[in-house]
Amino acid sequence: MRVGVLTGGGDVPGLNAAIRAVARSAFRHGYEVVGILDGWAGLLHDRMRPLDDQAISGILHMGGTILGASRTNPLHKEDEIAQCVENAQKAKLDAVVAIGGDDTLGVAAGLYDAGLPTVGIPKTMDNDVVGTDYCIGFDTAVTVIADALDRLHTTADAHHRVIVVEVMGRDAGWTAAFGGLAGGADMVLIPERPISVDEICAHITKRYEERNKRFSIIVVAEGAKIYEVKDPDLGDIDAFGHVRLDRRDVGKQVQREIEARLHHECRSVVLGHLQRGGSPTVFDRVLATRLGVRAVDLIKQGWFGQMVALQGNRIVPFPLRDVAGRTKQLDPEFWDLATIFY
Ligand code: F6P
Repeated sequence: MRVGVLTGGGDVPGLNAAIRAVARSAFRHGYEVVGILDGWAGLLHDRMRPLDDQAISGILHMGGTILGASRTNPLHKEDEIAQCVENAQKAKLDAVVAIGGDDTLGVAAGLYDAGLPTVGIPKTMDNDVVGTDYCIGFDTAVTVIADALDRLHTTADAHHRVIVVEVMGRDAGWTAAFGGLAGGADMVLIPERPISVDEICAHITKRYEERNKRFSIIVVAEGAKIYEVKDPDLGDIDAFGHVRLDRRDVGKQVQREIEARLHHECRSVVLGHLQRGGSPTVFDRVLATRLGVRAVDLIKQGWFGQMVALQGNRIVPFPLRDVAGRTKQLDPEFWDLATIFY
């Protein structure tokens, strides 16, 4: 057996732990492992390198991905789909493990339909992949957010300011809600719950008047819907139809709107790619390891077109076709929990 492995979409800490788990588990079964470079681009353009024990040694704790990543989408063109299948056959790959978010896993579903034996592993700091409770990279990202909020609390308190903290989270509020919960945010703004600046200001005023608070920390997801916030030209869409949400500057816009209405001193901070850097947390290392090993189990059983998913505390198969094109929105239970502490 020869198993190809790739990482697609935005990187997160824990990808290397997953690559290591796939490879180590494959070696135990006597399989060969091939690293496909830069996501689906590597399969399309035939850029691969064999992975041996040495290549995956010492990477468990490292952020990023030794294989590189890209947002290449070969599903748009019939000839690119055929090229991917042909390159996999040429490289004698019996299976391809795709580690990625809904975009990368959507391609894995499409290529499976085209005849490529694929297995998916969910990773995205956004945690919005359908079918799995958690994705690799989410826990590390929210740990970074919580740490940032701890640091911002002291300075906000010292200067009696409102600090607006912009976090990643394209279509779902998982990162903002969990980061906010863990870091004691005074308000969280997410894509699933559109809100007006007037409502935000009313909440801040209430905190000051009823609870004698002198500062506030507001966490805003980059994709949050705020009625008064007008998006500038966000530029071209990528191969998966996404715009660059950092160009919205939603945190800065909310900061200005609050300042203009309340005449409080306000600051804003964008956590950005810091949320995707550094070493993975214990949770992400263990999750990546479990998912990687289980992915190889599926290959051994000849069970393709599946994603390995965490449901409860079990790793189970979940059909890739049910992942493609869907978003797992924030569980309302966590939203309700966060609002108790506003
Ligand atoms: O898809 C995950 C994500 O982290 C989103 O939250 C964010 O919009 C996007 O990646 C940004 O990615 P990049 O700047 O690397 O293109």
